[in-house]
Amino acid sequence: MSGSHSLQIRPAEPRDAAALTGLTRELGYEATEEQILRRLRELSGSSHDAVFVADAGDECTGWIHVCVLRLLESESFSEIRGLVVTERLRGTGVGAALIGHAERWARERGSPKIRVRTNRKRLRTHEFYAKRGYEEAKEQKVFEKLLES
Ligand SMILES: CC(C)(COP(=O)(O)OP(=O)(O)OC[C@H]1O[C@@H](n2cnc3c(N)ncnc32)[C@H](O)[C@@H]1OP(=O)(O)O)[C@@H](O)C(=O)NCCC(=O)NCCS
Repeated sequence: MSGSHSLQIRPAEPRDAAALTGLTRELGYEATEEQILRRLRELSGSSHDAVFVADAGDECTGWIHVCVLRLLESESFSEIRGLVVTERLRGTGVGAALIGHAERWARERGSPKIRVRTNRKRLRTHEFYAKRGYEEAKEQKVFEKLLES
């Protein structure tokens, strides 16, 4: 942990925007602070989404976004939509604390299951999930298309 503070997992707030932006870059996604702030506001307005930060007192060392997915083809369940811990502090338990918090949030919302999709190249991340009881369910291909405005 950084500094002498203990780690607190709490909902992300607008004042975290700069830290969230830096962490998001570490996850491999370029975004401006304004974009992150707007997305955080949108997510904060949804009762089906939550963004939590790992607050070490003097810095935010990670974030997690969890949501309740509502589908036609199956009962709803929760999904971790994003998770990152700052590189310097990986392997020190921050990710475990974030995921534990997200799982409690999902359970409180009645989700019978929680899922995460992760890039097949992130091998250490697969280990992280496996150690926390996540089992590989399926492999998928992702297709996308740019829409003309
Ligand atoms: C995956 C991640 C969130 C785990 O958070 P963390 O704080 O490092 O995890 P913890 O300290 O609670 O648990 C450590 C375990 O995570 C795994 N791990 C994954 N990447 C790791 C890394 N770079 N360094 C250390 N441990 C890592 C190992 O299995 C490790 O187990 P070990 O301590 O027995 O070796 C974090 O490593 C990370 O941000 N990785 C890059 C981004 C990413 O893959 N995000 C998930 C996208 S779905």
